[in-house]
Amino acid sequence: MIVCSCTVITDAHIETALLEILGQPNAPIPTPGVVFRHLSKKMNCCGCAPLLVSTIYQIVQKLEREERICPCACASAKTKLEKLFVAYRRPNWDAEPVRVPEDVAELTSV
Ligand code: FES
Repeated sequence: MIVCSCTVITDAHIETALLEILGQPNAPIPTPGVVFRHLSKKMNCCGCAPLLVSTIYQIVQKLEREERICPCACASAKTKLEKLFVAYRRPNWDAEPVRVPEDVAELTSV
């Protein structure tokens, strides 16, 4: 599955990167920036950031379940990722965007 359409990063790329990143001694927290740098990619529009954070989190959980990475590295990574996920979450993420009628928008524009 493609996670970042700008750089064509897939969940498979992310899983490989996470295995390498979290396998290091003193592994850094696998934030989207760390994963992108590890893959030698640069974020462009950042539209994938929320999906990227949740994908990283899910893959860390999977690797932990499969005992492929250290549980300590998983725990600290998940704690940081949960904070990032909350930061990216909007109150009604799935809701339709609120449309302001034009006449009201004109009244409220500066
Ligand atoms: S979709 Fe990932 S940087 Fe644009």
